[in-house]
Amino acid sequence: MKNEIDKQYEYMEKVNKINEGQNLQYAIYTMGCQLNENDSEKISGMLEKMGYSKTEDIKKADIVVFNTCCVRENAEDKLFGKIGEMKKQKEEKGTIIAIGGCMMQEEHIVEKLNKSYPFVDIIFGTHTMHKLSEDVYHILEKRAKIQDVITIDGEIYEGIPIKRNDKTKASVTIMYGCNNFCTYCIVPYVRGRERSRTPNDILKEIKELANEGYKEITLLGQNVNSYDGGNGYKFSNLLRDVNKIEGIEKIRFVSPHPKDFKEDVIDAIKDCEKVSKIIHLPLQSGSSNILKKMNRRYTKEQYLSLVKRMKEKIQNVVFSTDIIVGFPEETEEDFEDTLDVVRKVNFEQVFMFIYSRRVGTPADKMEAQIPEGIKHERFNRLKELVESMMEENNKKYIGTIQSVLVEGKSKNNPNMLTGRTDSNKVVVFEGKEDLINTVVDLKIVSEHMWYLKGEIM
Ligand code: SAH
Ligand code: SF4
Ligand code: F3S
Repeated sequence: MKNEIDKQYEYMEKVNKINEGQNLQYAIYTMGCQLNENDSEKISGMLEKMGYSKTEDIKKADIVVFNTCCVRENAEDKLFGKIGEMKKQKEEKGTIIAIGGCMMQEEHIVEKLNKSYPFVDIIFGTHTMHKLSEDVYHILEKRAKIQDVITIDGEIYEGIPIKRNDKTKASVTIMYGCNNFCTYCIVPYVRGRERSRTPNDILKEIKELANEGYKEITLLGQNVNSYDGGNGYKFSNLLRDVNKIEGIEKIRFVSPHPKDFKEDVIDAIKDCEKVSKIIHLPLQSGSSNILKKMNRRYTKEQYLSLVKRMKEKIQNVVFSTDIIVGFPEETEEDFEDTLDVVRKVNFEQVFMFIYSRRVGTPADKMEAQIPEGIKHERFNRLKELVESMMEENNKKYIGTIQSVLVEGKSKNNPNMLTGRTDSNKVVVFEGKEDLINTVVDLKIVSEHMWYLKGEIM
């Protein structure tokens, strides 16, 4: 859809003319996952072409964009709180307020915004994000409120300008949407069906990133191993082709779905030396009973046997995961099954979530919702188990040599540098600044729960 984006470049140009010489600033508030962040980088790209420069201080901003997430409940309160705070600034300074992203695809939210926050200027959805420049132009010209949300799946728009947050690592979205309809999840409703970018477009973007000096690429999608590049070109082919790109040293991907993890992907991970050997493999629950109710389409045994197969085939492979506790009808026994899988797999990292009811999803209508108290109690038990295993797990790194991509200065101690092992553990070490954006070999000397300490070899 080149024409549409060409048209948007014209709007960026027009807005830029109107803004000329005014030194205007934008702030962007990103609330969601890595896909959401990648969208925010595109929103930043468009805003900069419109003549705005970035500020971290919302109060200074002439335009504020909220890029929302709705995967769990707490996001809503947070958003409404933030927008409430914007009212005064809007009145005093005329700040343009734009709200976009996943939450805007939910009708009841947009209704609430219109009713209670009429001063919001632009509401855009996940399928209309690329039109932000056009929306801003109309606001500047007419000062009339714009609501631009559609429920038809958006096309894939190539060529949107992008302003990346990082100089070492870059995310590349390879597919949009999700077809899985896990019964707890809102994503398929707000992101539409799966649409894959072409292999050419993806590889071209990554080659450009390599030329700009990027070393690490994360391939993004809600279910990357159902990527379909056309003519039989699958995710495993993409991994192999990205692995060949000179300059790129590390390749990660999130998220694969266990049900679609076929041998060709396992073989590609094994063969491609740049592909990280930490695999994010969302479990959600360890109980086959709950997995069925979640519509995950694998059992506890299938998950464990996938992990086993991968451990047999891929040297040094380790795993991270997502787990939801307190899904409707989850019994103590079901929860024990989750703990059992955690013990068996020995995950490097576990992202834990308390089940959150989402309007419009099948699980929200299930009768046996779990009381808050029990959900929290189970969450704490899981957390305790994970933390106790982590310390044990960290110890195995001590004395080993790890190759680490140096990301920058440590936030807590600017005299130290920080990077990550292949298995995504943070390592802090002493070193000169010119090591940033290179790969160094470090000997691990101690562990500190959330990070490891290393020494340059
Ligand atoms: N597509 C990815 C996940 C995207 S959402 C996948 O299938 O793995 C990220 C995580 O949020 C999910 O893995 C899940 O653990 C969690 N999540 C999604 N919906 C949730 C809900 N209603 N309540 C609590 N956690 C949820
Ligand atoms: Fe949600 Fe399931 Fe799709 Fe992941 S695979 S985005 S959890 S519906
Ligand atoms: Fe991501 Fe949240 Fe949307 S998890 S896809 S930003 S609902």
